[in-house]
Amino acid sequence: MFPRKAPKGAFRFLCYYFCMQKFLKFPDGFWWGAATSSHQVEGNTHNNWSEWEQSPRRIADLKQEGKNPKDFISGRGADQYHLYEKDFDIAKKLGHTMHRLSIEWSRIEPEEGKFDERELEHYRMVIDALRERGIEPMVTLYHWTEPLWFSKRGGFLHPDAPQAYKRFISRVVDNLKDRVGVWITFNEATTVLAGMAYKRGIWPPQYRSLWKFLQFRRAIVKAHILAYREIKKIYSSLDVSRAPYAAPIMSHNIKAPFVGAVENNTCFKGGRLIRALGIEWAFNRFYNEYLWSRTLPYQDFLGLNYYTLRRLPGSHSAVPETGHLLDQLGWEVYPQGIYERLMALKRFGKPIFITENGLYDSEDHYRGQYIKDHLRWIWQAIQDDTDVRGYLHWSLIDNFEWHHGFQMRFGLVEVDYETLERRIRPSAHEYAKIIQDNGLE
Ligand code: BGC
Repeated sequence: MFPRKAPKGAFRFLCYYFCMQKFLKFPDGFWWGAATSSHQVEGNTHNNWSEWEQSPRRIADLKQEGKNPKDFISGRGADQYHLYEKDFDIAKKLGHTMHRLSIEWSRIEPEEGKFDERELEHYRMVIDALRERGIEPMVTLYHWTEPLWFSKRGGFLHPDAPQAYKRFISRVVDNLKDRVGVWITFNEATTVLAGMAYKRGIWPPQYRSLWKFLQFRRAIVKAHILAYREIKKIYSSLDVSRAPYAAPIMSHNIKAPFVGAVENNTCFKGGRLIRALGIEWAFNRFYNEYLWSRTLPYQDFLGLNYYTLRRLPGSHSAVPETGHLLDQLGWEVYPQGIYERLMALKRFGKPIFITENGLYDSEDHYRGQYIKDHLRWIWQAIQDDTDVRGYLHWSLIDNFEWHHGFQMRFGLVEVDYETLERRIRPSAHEYAKIIQDNGLE
């Protein structure tokens, strides 16, 4: 599925010293593109998130914080549901060869067991629109949103949830099997979603329970394995994986000892530093690794969503000393971290895809530089024999940034939410030049 030719042995050595010192060339056939998710760009979805955004509790919380609830309701959003051809025209113009998008479960199966044929047809047209433009689709089956019937009965905490998920993905994959070769079962479900929705109580269903957090993660692992087997049954040649989140974790200026952990997002709030370090270590080093090893045989390639360095609670004062840039969310930009993550993944001997990487920069001051800095480290990882096949920037267009609402702009392309006009940002052109050259200085 993912062709790649990298210079090997003596030839590679000569290339490195005589040709590549100035120009960092990526392997032929390297995939370039961007990623999105349904709830964040399609508009007018009806799922657990859209319901939560409008719930009296959420509205009251926002008002109390002095915020306008309107800015936090996904509503029509960027309306990609209707404007996908326009967006894919832009992706084509920018030279993208791959695009990652997600399928909105609540559209396909609005009632338990009842599948909407028109929506299945809609996604066939979306995928065809990509293919007509020479762009390879990568499809995510679960990017955090659920149909109401599913979340109302307990979401992934319900004992039958993995089976219900399997039934949904089976229908979708069967529908698109001749058009889509690369599938992602879950986006950051065991990391970001589990933490925000089940442990920290910020996202729906707003649980603050270590037990539910653990239960949720177990169910996701089970559902992934079921889904993998099901997809392989449909077409054994389809490539299937997950898109997990991983970040180096630091305490003050000391990189935590579990930095080699392959997947993490577990930062425990409060507590003494030593205790926090201990819990972090146990979770990220052992528990996450355990979950990881269970799913490893069921991943044809490895996905990696990499954004930032994370700091243990209480160690933020050290940030300026490192000289790292902070994005508008206060996330600490640390390009070398993507190399560290890739080196941690290398030992599994599977092809790797950067399934997300980006920053919140509404003025587009740093995005171009951010992309280049990360790509230089990815290039370095490839030189060090890591089999990286592609890079998907987050995101193609501005999108609804979950509980942060519309203000946060991650797009290569700016969206005017009043007129729905799209404006290509300068960084998108810088990225297009890299794609055209298949490398950078
Ligand atoms: C998520 C996206 C989100 C992005 C920026 C990623 O972890 O997959 O949905 O928009 O982070 O916050």
